[in-house]
Amino acid sequence: MKDSPVLVAPSLLAANFLELGKEVEMVNRSEADWFHLDVMDGRFVPNISYGLPVIAQIKKLARKPCDVHLMIEEPEKYAAEFKKAGADILTVHAEACVHLHRNIQQIKSLGMKAGVALNPHTPVVMLENIIRDIDVVLVMSVNPGFGGQTFIEQTYQKIKQVRQLIKDHHASALIEVDGGIGTENAGQLVAAGANVLVAGSAIFASPDPEKAIAALKRGAL
Ligand code: DX5
Ligand code: ZN
Repeated sequence: MKDSPVLVAPSLLAANFLELGKEVEMVNRSEADWFHLDVMDGRFVPNISYGLPVIAQIKKLARKPCDVHLMIEEPEKYAAEFKKAGADILTVHAEACVHLHRNIQQIKSLGMKAGVALNPHTPVVMLENIIRDIDVVLVMSVNPGFGGQTFIEQTYQKIKQVRQLIKDHHASALIEVDGGIGTENAGQLVAAGANVLVAGSAIFASPDPEKAIAALKRGAL
């Protein structure tokens, strides 16, 4: 038994953008907890997704927190704009920030929760001096840039390391995991210490996305 339930954050990257309003309403109705919104700049990652105007539209309908995952260079230039567009949680990549501590303070001073994402190759020790300052650690379980990729098995070990780091520093950050997640690995991820599961294709490519969300929540019990 777990002491706190797992949160599920559907990634709209895999949604049908011609029916975006309906997709947002589906997430509103479902057992999902957050909207996960992936922003890619074609520089930090080899793909371009969507940005501020689309997030502002989603925000008009969303009745759950908007968790914005910035896969962009120089995220500090846009933090205030993402706040305006509706981000409740703003996550930057450790690899994209020369002054990560400053970037985290900036996000918090704008009134958002601050997250830091780690690419699969980035060691957990990178977070040692900031773990008490952040609200979310986003552990990438694929190389960022695309939906529908294969889950990297080493992630379980990494989640355990983050869990230990949080404990050692008496910190309270949530551990969010992103990429290649479905009911087949949800339970093991939660057992390793994950609090938030992001899923794109496992939800939106399913014939019944609401059921898929419920299954992820249950699969993780
Ligand atoms: C990958 C994104 C993910 C992606 C997950 O760069 O950060 O949020 O949408 O998609 P799936 O669940 O299909 O791996
Ligand atoms: Zn993401």
